[in-house]
Amino acid sequence: MHLARVDIHAVRNIASARLQMPPGTSLITGDNGSGKTSLLEAVWLLGTGSSFRSNRMLPVIRYGEDAATVHGEVIHADGYRTSLGVSRERSGGVQIKVGGEAVRTTSALAEVLPVQLINPDSVELVTGPPVRRRRFLDWGTFHVERSFLESWKSYRRGLEQRNALLRRASAASSAELDAWETRLNRDAHLIDAQRRASVTALQPLVDEALEELGGPDQIALRYLPGWDADAPSLADVLASQRDSDRTQGFTRSGPQRAELKLTAGGRAAAEALSRGQQKILACALLVAQGRWLAAATSKQGIYLVDDLPAELDRDHRARLGSILATLPAQVLVTAVQRDLVMAGLESATALAMFHVEHGRISAG
Ligand SMILES: Nc1ncnc2c1ncn2[C@@H]1O[C@H](COP(=O)(O)OP(=O)(O)OP(=O)(O)O)[C@@H](O)[C@H]1O
Ligand SMILES: [Mg+2]
Repeated sequence: MHLARVDIHAVRNIASARLQMPPGTSLITGDNGSGKTSLLEAVWLLGTGSSFRSNRMLPVIRYGEDAATVHGEVIHADGYRTSLGVSRERSGGVQIKVGGEAVRTTSALAEVLPVQLINPDSVELVTGPPVRRRRFLDWGTFHVERSFLESWKSYRRGLEQRNALLRRASAASSAELDAWETRLNRDAHLIDAQRRASVTALQPLVDEALEELGGPDQIALRYLPGWDADAPSLADVLASQRDSDRTQGFTRSGPQRAELKLTAGGRAAAEALSRGQQKILACALLVAQGRWLAAATSKQGIYLVDDLPAELDRDHRARLGSILATLPAQVLVTAVQRDLVMAGLESATALAMFHVEHGRISAG
């Protein structure tokens, strides 16, 4: 599958643009400030309903406009087409359409257009807080395991209920808490099993990507569920933590606290690896994720690669370039100049070129 067409309206400095894109690699060149990242931002918006640069949408809406809007068409492996549309309004309104139908959740977009970002911030996958790695792990689990999202939503609702009960001035009845904890326990163990399966599937693919990238070796992914793994179940943990959770005002154990530990030779990767090695590890994780998606589902993702070459040495750049060129995915790569782009990319079959100038995008 690939994003064959994209129509952009009022995303950062892009007033209006229409692009036809090939399934393979597209190289987007342009001077600093021309609008390359804005183009990637538009595609990200179409796949996620949100912005990758900030939690707020306002900076993404072109100055003086009421809404940023992106439409696109995804062509699936079987030739079937799905149209997507997202509009984010200055007033806070959100419009999402999938296959011509209005939908309420952004997960409907993600399901059709699995988008991954590789940029200088990707290193936070290694050095950032656990939430970054949970999101990474859940991205793949969401795409591969159809029931994951349901379990997760159900768990979140249960968690809100338990937290509200814990905070209530009058002590909640233990029967009520029992009931919510039973539900949390059920959902948590489903989430846990699916996340474990993801880690097991990813580890060999990460090893393989690291080898190809010339990255650090002895990298291990170690998953911690978010509660005392020696306890018989999360329900036991929650029951024993009720009083202390009440004092804290929230539930301190569960899948919302899971961690995907990354180690290098047994040491924390965030401390043991050089900055460059951390970046390569982050790339390996993202490459592994895309290959897993393609192998385990009928989907192929789309990678947005922004400003990366400048951060890696020549050899690693070339290696990453040739991996990107052969990924089972659509790849959009930005560069200030064509000759600065990763050497390996030039080997891509079906390499399309786009040039950006003052927010205007031209092919060729
Ligand atoms: N909401 C907005 N409305 C209009 N223009 C904006 C908005 N936000 C940012 N810009 C401008 O858009 C221009 C393009 O920014 P963008 O980040 O896409 O450039 P770029 O081509 O990626 O540059 P670089 O090579 O430096 O990364 C910038 O000049 C920026 O000031
Ligand atoms: Mg940029």
